[in-house]
Amino acid sequence: MNALTENWVTIGDISDIPVRGARCVKNGETSIAVFRTADDQIFALEDKCPHNNGPLSQGIVHDGCVTCPLHNWVIALKDGTAQGADEGQTKSYPIKLDGETILLSLTANR
Ligand code: FES
Repeated sequence: MNALTENWVTIGDISDIPVRGARCVKNGETSIAVFRTADDQIFALEDKCPHNNGPLSQGIVHDGCVTCPLHNWVIALKDGTAQGADEGQTKSYPIKLDGETILLSLTANR
């Protein structure tokens, strides 16, 4: 990550996101799903499953992953990679907490 290319924006508080759920943020045409785990970690992925563009924001968060609601692919929250025998990767975005406030970078990783 390069601090000079990151473009942090405040998108709300962690309490705005349901535990083990997600909330979407629009960036132009792109929808970014911001996930909250059971232990209050946050992650950001493009809201498109690498299988067939399913809405990952509507999936269930578990064990550092989200299960796509369409065909149950399991996607790692940290980098968007498909787990198990499935192959593919969704874009991930840098995200961090400043106290309760969520800061999202609109510059995708990789
Ligand atoms: S679109 Fe996500 S598993 Fe098929």
